[in-house]
Amino acid sequence: MGRHQVEVSINGKVYQEEVESRMLLSDFIRDVCGLTGTHVGCEHGVCGACTVHVNGTAVRSCLMFAVQIDGDEIKTVEGLANNGELTDLQKNFVECHGLQCGFCTPGILMSTTDYLEKKPDPSTKEIKEMLSGHLCRCTGYDGIINAIEKTIVNKKTAISS
Ligand code: FES
Ligand code: FES
Repeated sequence: MGRHQVEVSINGKVYQEEVESRMLLSDFIRDVCGLTGTHVGCEHGVCGACTVHVNGTAVRSCLMFAVQIDGDEIKTVEGLANNGELTDLQKNFVECHGLQCGFCTPGILMSTTDYLEKKPDPSTKEIKEMLSGHLCRCTGYDGIINAIEKTIVNKKTAISS
């Protein structure tokens, strides 16, 4: 089995590690870097729990190999908060009860953060379409959608005031 040297920045910290060719990015993040906020559910790109940002774009980390991210910048859910201050989206997940067990939550936060940066004012239908890439089995999606819509409203209010 081939081994490869990988250098990657994750949440602003540089990691230099040797990895096997077959190691998944999700396993690298969790088992090598110890960032266990990224969850692993299906390992088939279906549930969305493993979603992280690679160079600013949300991707399924179970569908990438660690060797593919050599030289890249990764952000995981641990890197969303700024000096311990939760983002407005994170706060609204708490306030709107957008989570119960929390297993799916990191992936949804990572996808939604990227989505709202690229599309700041989506309709409810478009939010639902974005969320269709994420399986949450315990809350129903109402609280999640409410949290996302509250984040959109808060941002519009901040811009107009
Ligand atoms: Fe990656 Fe389910 S664990 S999409
Ligand atoms: Fe439990 Fe989503 S909060 S699966």
